[in-house]
Amino acid sequence: MDRGDGRSPLSHVTVPAKVKKAFKEALKFRNHAYSPYSKYQVGAALISFRGKIFAGCNVENSSFGATICAERCAILKSVSEGHICLEHMVIVTEDKDPAPPCGNCLQVMAEFFGPKASVWLANKTGIKKHYHFKDLLTHPFGPKKFKK
Ligand code: THU
Repeated sequence: MDRGDGRSPLSHVTVPAKVKKAFKEALKFRNHAYSPYSKYQVGAALISFRGKIFAGCNVENSSFGATICAERCAILKSVSEGHICLEHMVIVTEDKDPAPPCGNCLQVMAEFFGPKASVWLANKTGIKKHYHFKDLLTHPFGPKKFKK
């Protein structure tokens, strides 16, 4: 978690080689962002437990509401290829202090990422922050609600 003491939340974490590779993919896919309305480009790359990387970008729509975020784009690609157990998500935005996933994306992530899964926030210069998924969405709505 961000300790709020000015130290990078990355100072206690070694970035695994596969996450560095996913960062490069997210950076590349950010260039595919279709964002004529916001002009805000986002790239995301996730790593499944089976070790495959899936990357995506934000795809905006003139209705605004039908816009798909980069994170969900990457998740749809992985799930549609049969990879539903997901371990890492890397997100690249342009911000000096990189943006976390929005609430919609966190809820979709809750379906496929376990609490210990890692979320890595980056900008063009590299990965800046690390979170465990459970610290970004502390009380997800989950499938247990249907098992009564
Ligand atoms: N966006 C993402 O791709 N991921 C997020 O988690 C937040 C927002 C996109 C959606 C839209 O195209 C643009 O950023 C501005 O909201």
